[in-house]
Amino acid sequence: MKIIALVSSYRIDGNTNKAVSLIEKQLLSTADKENIALEVEKVQLSYLDIITCCGCRICFDKGEEKCPLKDDLLAVREKIQQADGILAASPVYVEDVNGIMKNWIDRMAFNCHRPAFAGKTAYIITTSGGGTSNHTINTIKNAFTSWGIDFAGSSKFRAGVLMDSVEMESKYNNKIKKAAEILFKAVKNNSAQNPSLYSLIAFKVQQKSWQKSTQRQDTVDYQYWKKNKWLERNCNYYIPNKASLLKIKFARLIGSIIAIFFI
Ligand SMILES: Cc1cc2nc3c(=O)[nH]c(=O)nc-3n(C[C@H](O)[C@H](O)[C@H](O)COP(=O)(O)O)c2cc1C
Repeated sequence: MKIIALVSSYRIDGNTNKAVSLIEKQLLSTADKENIALEVEKVQLSYLDIITCCGCRICFDKGEEKCPLKDDLLAVREKIQQADGILAASPVYVEDVNGIMKNWIDRMAFNCHRPAFAGKTAYIITTSGGGTSNHTINTIKNAFTSWGIDFAGSSKFRAGVLMDSVEMESKYNNKIKKAAEILFKAVKNNSAQNPSLYSLIAFKVQQKSWQKSTQRQDTVDYQYWKKNKWLERNCNYYIPNKASLLKIKFARLIGSIIAIFFI
């Protein structure tokens, strides 16, 4: 099993990295107890070369390989592809993710059109000075969901300006254990193979949109959907899945109704 921890804080000894390290320690200890080989790879987004999105839309229109910004973006994408689970972590900056995380999400926006991560599951954490930061969690969660990633859960750590690691471990012992347990179980049990109702509906709406499309068939997006066989009538999600028939039928119905009104 492999989990990639995507950390967007600049501060290597900061609160976010400390929280991630404590969850990582817990993950490895659980894996050890269960005799499961687990690799956790930390990726510091702040120390990679990820240039600010210039909004040229070339990734949307011609494909991400044609992006004029040559940097580490696609290498990080590759690392996510190799992983089963993701631990995403950002400090709260003015009630949202920090700029590093937001820019990374913006640069990855082509995945909203061509979701490539179905089958992977993510746990999201934030650290804040004192705020609650639901909005911050949602920024990452909404992006991940539209990229096909399953959402296992989230935790918020109020850590002030700089919390000592020992204090963090004792104050948030339960939270750290719970975060690790949820992520570990979700990855081990392949929970991403049982997509949420929301994800199934979102798939159906997009599928309907592409099926109806007559003028966009030469686009990279359309070809991607076609190549993956996602436009076929009996396809109900990006990957073969274990969702119940009832859930699938309900999602198809709701998705089709939404598509009538909005597409
Ligand atoms: C530019 C900036 C903006 C911040 N905005 C908020 C905020 O809106 N709410 C909050 O509770 N904490 C805020 N904080 C505090 C940080 O979220 C908090 O200290 C966090 O744990 C820092 O993580 P780090 O040590 O990994 O950098 C802000 C800090 C900075 C530097």
